Amino acid sequence: MSSESNKLLCAILSAFLVYLLASFFSELIYLAEEKKDIKLSYYIKKPEINSVSINDNDEKGKIIEITEKKLTELLELADLEKGKIFVNKNCGSCHDFNMPIKNKIGPSLATVLNRKIGQIENYKYSKTLLNINKEWNILNLYYFLEKPKEWAAGTKMSYRGITDSSKLINTIKFLKANSLKYED
Ligand code: HEC
Repeated sequence: MSSESNKLLCAILSAFLVYLLASFFSELIYLAEEKKDIKLSYYIKKPEINSVSINDNDEKGKIIEITEKKLTELLELADLEKGKIFVNKNCGSCHDFNMPIKNKIGPSLATVLNRKIGQIENYKYSKTLLNINKEWNILNLYYFLEKPKEWAAGTKMSYRGITDSSKLINTIKFLKANSLKYED
């Protein structure tokens, strides 16, 4: 092979290597960003018996992006009864879930699903919640309840958030079912 064609081959190979490295790193950055944005990794455990679990060894490393569609699917698998027990234990000291609307330390959550954020009239919300111009759909509930102080920096809800995604999804299932009970 002539030295010219050697040089050419070398140039092509180097270019290819640079391309590989660049795409590898950009993917890493992309993944890191995606994880940061979505802030979750899920491991679905035996969906056939209605459980959704994090850190299941069989599925370790499997990341499922939470979209509205995915969350709707996961809600189907979630356990309403466990959600109710979890909510009574973890939220009940600050929130009421029955009609008529009654506020405690936190606002009533009887009708929270699809309600505008910060909407209960006689409750004194933080400026943070009042300024979020969205409603409590399942996705926003998910983000807020996972890390209240990150999703709504400045909220006066001191609760730390639900790190176990199966408990989080069970909670949303309960909030949803409970709200639907009061829809006419
Ligand atoms: C230590 C008391 C406390 C606990 C425990 C607590 N919260 Fe709250 N919650 C609050 C307060 C206070 C607010 C009002 C936050 C603000 O105005 O920034 C709030 C606000 C909320 C809101 C927004 C309601 C609205 O009308 O916009 C939701 C949803 C919510 N909490 C859900 C929950 C759930 C679900 C749990 C249990 C997993 C929980 N909270 C546990 C005190 C608490």
